[in-house]
Amino acid sequence: MGRVSTFTVAVATTALLMCLWVGVQAEDPYLFFEWNVSYGTISPLGVPQEGILINGQFPGPKINCTSNNNIVVNVFNNLDEPFLLTWYGIQHRKNSWQDGTPGTMCPIMPGTNYTYHFQVKDQIGSFYYFPTTGLHRASGGIGGLQIHSRNLIPVPFDAPADDYSVIIGDWYTKGHKALKKLLDSGRTLARPDGIQINGKSGKVGEQQPVLFTMEAGKTYRYRVCNVGLKTSLNLRIQGHTLKLVEMDGSHTVQNVYDSLDIHVGQCFSVLVTANQEPKDYYMVVSSRFTKHPLTAVGIVRYANGKGPASAELPPPPPETANGIAWSINQFRSFRWNLTASAARPNPQGSYHYGKINITRTIRLVNSRSYVNGNLRYAINGVSHKDESTPLKLAEYYGIHDKVFKYDIIKDEPEAEAEKKVALSPNVVNATFRNFVEIILENHEKTIQTWHLDGYSFFAVAIEPGRWSPEKRKNYNLVDAVSRHNIQVYPGSWAAIMTTLDNAGMWNMRSEMWERFYLGQQLYISVLSPARSLRDEYNLPDDTPLCGIVKDLPKPPPYSIHGT
Ligand SMILES: *[C@@H]1O[C@H](CO)[C@@H](O)[C@H](O)[C@H]1NC(C)=O
Ligand SMILES: *[C@@H]1O[C@H](CO)[C@@H](O)[C@H](O)[C@H]1NC(C)=O
Ligand SMILES: *[C@@H]1O[C@H](CO)[C@@H](O)[C@H](O)[C@H]1NC(C)=O
Ligand SMILES: *[C@@H]1O[C@H](CO)[C@@H](O)[C@H](O)[C@H]1NC(C)=O
Ligand SMILES: *[C@@H]1O[C@H](CO)[C@@H](O)[C@H](O)[C@H]1NC(C)=O
Ligand SMILES: *[C@@H]1O[C@H](CO)[C@@H](O)[C@H](O)[C@H]1NC(C)=O
Repeated sequence: MGRVSTFTVAVATTALLMCLWVGVQAEDPYLFFEWNVSYGTISPLGVPQEGILINGQFPGPKINCTSNNNIVVNVFNNLDEPFLLTWYGIQHRKNSWQDGTPGTMCPIMPGTNYTYHFQVKDQIGSFYYFPTTGLHRASGGIGGLQIHSRNLIPVPFDAPADDYSVIIGDWYTKGHKALKKLLDSGRTLARPDGIQINGKSGKVGEQQPVLFTMEAGKTYRYRVCNVGLKTSLNLRIQGHTLKLVEMDGSHTVQNVYDSLDIHVGQCFSVLVTANQEPKDYYMVVSSRFTKHPLTAVGIVRYANGKGPASAELPPPPPETANGIAWSINQFRSFRWNLTASAARPNPQGSYHYGKINITRTIRLVNSRSYVNGNLRYAINGVSHKDESTPLKLAEYYGIHDKVFKYDIIKDEPEAEAEKKVALSPNVVNATFRNFVEIILENHEKTIQTWHLDGYSFFAVAIEPGRWSPEKRKNYNLVDAVSRHNIQVYPGSWAAIMTTLDNAGMWNMRSEMWERFYLGQQLYISVLSPARSLRDEYNLPDDTPLCGIVKDLPKPPPYSIHGT
């Protein structure tokens, strides 16, 4: 082990594997990985600390694949705590069994292994994986996952000279156990200690490793993901512009930016052309909307270039109130390229989301409060807590009423919901194939980001103030980017729309990890009334079972024709 094995097997072997695991496309290649998750020493901020490594690495190994590939990852948990990885932004069509959230899967116990099987069906773009258990994400277990377009599908830009994964985020030197202890004792995480770029944090003028190399005249793709716990970041490269080409799995209109705000949980692909004097340049990553600004730099070197990077850094965008207006403007400049292909040859814009009637509007208001003296975060007055039986398993076994109640929050929150907070599993019962509008309203003073598993959604608006139905006239119903994460500024709202056509149980959450951990999340249960394999796969045979379903007989499997 310790080595990543990636190989494509012949169709005959694939057919054999098909017998073991129903629900994959025989013609699509397989990529196999074996991952050893363990503790080890890392120093992202220059201070040695215990990190969570995958095959000895932080960031973890990159998964490089192509649309519709079948990915098989055998994860060995050599930590001292239960562990799960989620494949962030991967839609897992019909397959929330592999989503890796505590509401859908039993954790991989220490000293055991579990093999994830999933297909990157009809997706392209830049993603990553990370742990959803405890606060493991604060210590590592994170790496890039990129999906290339299939050979014959046109990509709306020339093939870059190289393709770099840039994992950035705020960072704490304390480690996940100490941070978890803080939250468990009712306190906050306080401020991060710094910012890391691919596990390093350079300072201007100091000796530091070269992060990326470019040859003069060539163009490179940088896939930048903010994997941090709570800090919005701004990215820029001295002397160079950033041409945005992809965001959270969609090809965008290719605008050129001096700098980009990347909020927690977002991934952007930019093209950078090495068209400057051949020498070193700093990539600069700085915090946004924080009282105590943090900055990290890393070297981008021209091959055969001469000379150090200049100590003069490109300025950050404005902070304070102007900063939010600047950032909202930048959000509004992001457009879906309607004529570009995504994973299929037809143009992205052939799906006219603006013409579909809304069947349900759900307004979610986030809040922060104290319950029995302990800090909790809530949505519409409910602070989610996980149960020892994953919600999806309880539902599948037909005994959900022993674990949770559906719809304990209302689609339209009551005014008092922000003050009276209840602790409970939070599951919304949704109707298969409904076209829903979700309003995310942030009455607090800190920025939020929201993510939905299993789907991408159209991010149609962000505005200051409170939402009301007449605000719909300001929605972008033509070329809003289809993505899976959206920021909501303080005292602002955002609107997203999606068709709930992926059966399963899907986590919707604040991607701000302290908020997630302390309850600002819910699950959307999308059940196909047909119980048919066309709509949802069966529980995989090797799924670990826990809680009250551990020793229960398996329910009758779904069939092709349903029940
Ligand atoms: C996994 O990593 C740990 C820590 O480096 C090591 O002790 C262990 O032998 C590794 N396990 C395997 C199966 O490679
Ligand atoms: C990643 O995958 C693409 C397409 O499958 C391939 O062209 C490229 O060489 C791969 N890169 C690496 C580093 O494996
Ligand atoms: C654990 O790893 C072994 C050895 O690779 C493999 O045969 C087995 O299927 C794995 N178990 C699970 C539950 O994935
Ligand atoms: C959109 O994609 C098309 C098709 O690949 C491409 O020709 C065009 O330049 C792109 N448009 C913009 C504005 O980026
Ligand atoms: C959408 O709603 C309008 C007004 O209620 C109705 O006239 C129209 O037929 C509906 N469109 C579809 C596609 O259902
Ligand atoms: C969930 O919603 C469906 C309609 O989509 C309905 O048939 C079902 O009874 C609801 N289930 C519960 C438990 O409320």
